[in-house]
Amino acid sequence: MIRRKNILKIAIDSPAAAGAGTLAKAISKHYNLFYLDTGKIYRYIANLKLKYPKAYNQKFINSKMKSLKVKDLSNKYLLSDEIGTEASIISKRKEIRKLVHSFQINFAYNPPKKYKGSCLDGRDITYKIIPDADIKLFITANVRTRALRRFNELKILKKDITYKQVLKSIKNRDKSDFNRKISPLKKTKDSLLINTTKLNKRACFLKIKKIIDKKINI
Ligand code: C5P
Repeated sequence: MIRRKNILKIAIDSPAAAGAGTLAKAISKHYNLFYLDTGKIYRYIANLKLKYPKAYNQKFINSKMKSLKVKDLSNKYLLSDEIGTEASIISKRKEIRKLVHSFQINFAYNPPKKYKGSCLDGRDITYKIIPDADIKLFITANVRTRALRRFNELKILKKDITYKQVLKSIKNRDKSDFNRKISPLKKTKDSLLINTTKLNKRACFLKIKKIIDKKINI
């Protein structure tokens, strides 16, 4: 695999709906980094399982992953709570993680030349995908705040779901993501903790920008 030298690599881990995606996008735009929301890949596979239950097997997933393009991940339907829940189930499987890992590693270490580096967010990015990242962040917020944010996002998408259902689903996903045996979500010692509960988007962005600027000596 090709590994570009002297690029800036940012690794972010976070529980569901902590605001990591919004921040990662803003950071990537500001520093001209190639951005990947890795949860979308697990959601993409979860959707295959829900949409094609009969065809769904390892061979089928392999062939879909081979032709997967970043633009396939931008579809709004992947954001549904049902797909998120299914993603946390299929992401426990070793064979699936292996497939997704090689896609992510290629993305992280070999971003297109026009970018100065890469920024990935997910659950195991800081210790499994980019263990040598220049910046490692663990972004979190209290569970009710996260549920409310996700509920508001789903409302905009006109999804038929209550706040209570979203809260329950996020609690279940936290339980599964933090406690699973393979690639559990955790804050590594070398990751900086960013709690977004009481901060707005701008304040969070400025906090992270300060950390990055210091690191890259701007
Ligand atoms: O981030 P998002 O909520 O879209 O992720 C959906 C699910 O995919 C998570 O709950 C988690 O189980 C799984 N995931 C993962 N590893 C990642 C990203 C997401 O296991 N790097």
